[in-house]
Amino acid sequence: MSLNDENSEKMSAAATEIAALSAEAILSGLSADNQDRKIIVLDETDSTNNEAKKLAAEGAPHGTAVIADSQTSGKGRLDRSFVSPAGKGLYMSVIIRPEFDIKYAPMITSAAAVAASIAVEELCGCEVQIKWVNDLYINGKKISGILTESAVNSGGKSLEYAVIGIGINICSITEHLDEELKLRASSIEDETGNIPDRNALCAAVLNELDTWLGKIEDRSYITEYRQREFLTGKRITAESGGKIISGTAVGIDRNANLMVELSNGEIINLNSGESSQKIN
Ligand code: BTN
Repeated sequence: MSLNDENSEKMSAAATEIAALSAEAILSGLSADNQDRKIIVLDETDSTNNEAKKLAAEGAPHGTAVIADSQTSGKGRLDRSFVSPAGKGLYMSVIIRPEFDIKYAPMITSAAAVAASIAVEELCGCEVQIKWVNDLYINGKKISGILTESAVNSGGKSLEYAVIGIGINICSITEHLDEELKLRASSIEDETGNIPDRNALCAAVLNELDTWLGKIEDRSYITEYRQREFLTGKRITAESGGKIISGTAVGIDRNANLMVELSNGEIINLNSGESSQKIN
């Protein structure tokens, strides 16, 4: 069976309404070596990242996933909020206890972006781009964001855990967005006309996370990231460490930093933890 046949088979299951969340249905979509994963499904929470951080601090195992139908205080990067109304999206957080060196921690979000993109592509058969560092785009509009929060062990030399929070707008949320957000944000439904099965999408994200987080140390996930990166070639203005810079995004370096060429030819490598940017 070709990839296209597989995609259209999955897409033919696409419905006109979003599927109710079900831990059982999510588990049924997980790969064989993933069947003991702890899946927690909630109707509502303030933020699945907060819930997952609490569980991680209490010792929840690697791979535990918290998924909610709605969030009252969904969080984004740089203290932004993430609109998370009931029955509209996939709001999930996954606890990982990485064995890799702490120096790879800043690459977790970009590897998760590759995983989530591939999961959406599999389920929807559409092209997904990644806007550095953590946003997924379809047709030039944001349909998903990722927020990773981590805790270091005492001494600060290794990661105790990281919580990878992924929000995907599945159904149209236009009525929940202010005028400014309406220009930038969208949903899978609005951009493709399809509503993928929410439990199948969640399982696909979990399966892909396993794969792509495993490709951080050899940096092989970066190739997939670069193929989808949205800013490369565009003129941008960015704020980094309190400084404003303008230039052209020229690519992603081996540590998943955004390379920006200034008008004098100098290349600056922007670190995801510290920068925000907009397209000129
Ligand atoms: C962003 O757009 O800057 C990142 C958004 C991340 C949203 C997800 S939804 C699940 C998890 N819980 C949260 O509070 N945030 C993340």
